[in-house]
Amino acid sequence: MAAREIRPGVYHVGAIDWDRRLFDEFIPLPDGTSYNAYLIKGSTKTALIDTVDPTKEAELLKNLKKLEIDRLDYIVSNHSEQDHSGCIPRILEEYPNAKVVTNAKGAKMLQELLLIDEQKFIVIKDEETLSLGDKTLEFMSAPWVHWPETIFTYLRELKILFSCDFLGSHLATSSLYVNDPGKMSIAAKRYYAEIMMPFRAHINKHLEKLADLDVEIVAPSHGPLYDAPDSIIDMYKDWAGDDVSNEVVVVYVSMHGSTRTLVDYFVDSLITKGVEVKPFNLSRTDIGELAIALVDTATLVVASPMVLAGLHPTVAHAAIIANALRPKLKFMSMLGSFGWGGKMVDQLSGLTTNLKAEMLEPVIVKGSPGKEGFDQVDRLVSDIVERHRDL
Ligand code: FEO
Repeated sequence: MAAREIRPGVYHVGAIDWDRRLFDEFIPLPDGTSYNAYLIKGSTKTALIDTVDPTKEAELLKNLKKLEIDRLDYIVSNHSEQDHSGCIPRILEEYPNAKVVTNAKGAKMLQELLLIDEQKFIVIKDEETLSLGDKTLEFMSAPWVHWPETIFTYLRELKILFSCDFLGSHLATSSLYVNDPGKMSIAAKRYYAEIMMPFRAHINKHLEKLADLDVEIVAPSHGPLYDAPDSIIDMYKDWAGDDVSNEVVVVYVSMHGSTRTLVDYFVDSLITKGVEVKPFNLSRTDIGELAIALVDTATLVVASPMVLAGLHPTVAHAAIIANALRPKLKFMSMLGSFGWGGKMVDQLSGLTTNLKAEMLEPVIVKGSPGKEGFDQVDRLVSDIVERHRDL
């Protein structure tokens, strides 16, 4: 991607990855992504904020050459994950006088992950500043969005917040700024769900801190920039807040149709009672769509046939992901069918210990569901409707 000027002396020098379809080898990227690196030229010093994924190293170097950057004084590392830090060793080869600026945790991680010599670091503390002459960088500690070492960098004079992964989106677009708010909000929510949701408490603290900061531009490390940051800030407040929706997410796999029959009956009953319901057939679903649905839902219902005395492995996989994402669920339950026995409910409870949801009485039937099974589903639906009334 060509380098683009954001404000006088401030440039986007990162790369768009139009083709990437998987992150961390399991997160789907339907819209690609970008790795946003930023160059800031002050009157006396020049700084690079983060780098790009190593697969896009050539593009970053090309952009720095195009801008005729002969000397780089600082490489600020907001976050040590390799999609932002992975090119630091190469940049240090190209600009041997540059120092890597980050906090103590970040410096240690970069030494461990990328084998960067400890002499190369300038270690900063929370609220410390770094002068580039006519521009000042202020560093803000921002742990757990989504690693423990993360910092934000604030360019005081131009009121630009470089927020790294926080407020970002996996969205490849030629627009420097958000130009399709609908598409951005879905991509940002997907990103929040997959990366940020487990850290809601930290996110709320960071949002409180940002409320005192005068920010004109948010420049994250993935996806388009925000020149009207209130929109994404308000979305984060909503997603990370405590409110949940009158909604049930149902994840299921069915092998011979019995679990599917239970799920269909359950879904129809909820619709009839006015409860929003989102069923996900895990044999087909994009796990990111499921993550998005988990952001707001009040209730998660897991439905599985018994396989070798336990959960269907695909359902167990989804349960592990939901447990890792820690959505703000209030209630959980289970539907299922078995042929000769097993312990699905206990297994599900063991896989979801992070979820602080109240377990509502599950419905587990032998073979195909009959009247008794449907009566139990009716009871579960009534239970959910009753409890959702108090949300
Ligand atoms: Fe985009 Fe946590 O790296």
